[in-house]
Amino acid sequence: MTGSVVVVAMTGAHIDALMPYERQLFGTEAWTAAGYRDELADRRHRYYIAAETGAGELLGWAGVRVVGAEAEILTVGVVPSARRAGVGRRLLLDLLAEAHRRGAREAFLEVRVDNDAARRLYAGEGFVELGVRRGYYDGGRVDAVTMRRELGEMV
Ligand SMILES: CC(C)(COP(=O)(O)OP(=O)(O)OC[C@H]1O[C@@H](n2cnc3c(N)ncnc32)[C@H](O)[C@@H]1OP(=O)(O)O)[C@@H](O)C(=O)NCCC(=O)NCCS
Repeated sequence: MTGSVVVVAMTGAHIDALMPYERQLFGTEAWTAAGYRDELADRRHRYYIAAETGAGELLGWAGVRVVGAEAEILTVGVVPSARRAGVGRRLLLDLLAEAHRRGAREAFLEVRVDNDAARRLYAGEGFVELGVRRGYYDGGRVDAVTMRRELGEMV
């Protein structure tokens, strides 16, 4: 992937653009378009963004929920052709910065134990493993690792 990456607020058009990738990226955990629309509607507690090329082509998307001093990373996805170019990290850092602006002081997330790429992304940005949720994914077949990061040091 070459060229500039722009991060913007997620819109309904982004939902249409991301849906063809959703099942491919998230399998049994894939969300529906209606689910995304419900998420976008809750602007008070949720913040969703998309990464695009300068020409408006979708590269990735992400969302966070903030309630009080706690943020939860809800989703991060990068289209396969745009990976390993820093898009996932950029989306994650944008979510954390917004969560901090909204008053969050710590962030949590769950990730599949077998998702090395995501675990490395999160660990690289300061998330530390808290524990394991047995059988959290795929109808009880795959465990989740829970991770946490403090946001107090963010500018
Ligand atoms: C996880 C995901 C979002 C990463 O997106 P990305 O844009 O490729 O990630 P980045 O280029 O920003 O990489 C940031 C860091 O993550 C780690 N990383 C990302 N992909 C990796 C891979 N395939 N193998 C090992 N480490 C990887 C690296 O530490 C990388 O830093 P580096 O490139 O300087 O070594 C992407 O692979 C994806 O969409 N996966 C499917 C959906 C998913 O699993 N989402 C997370 C659910 S919790």
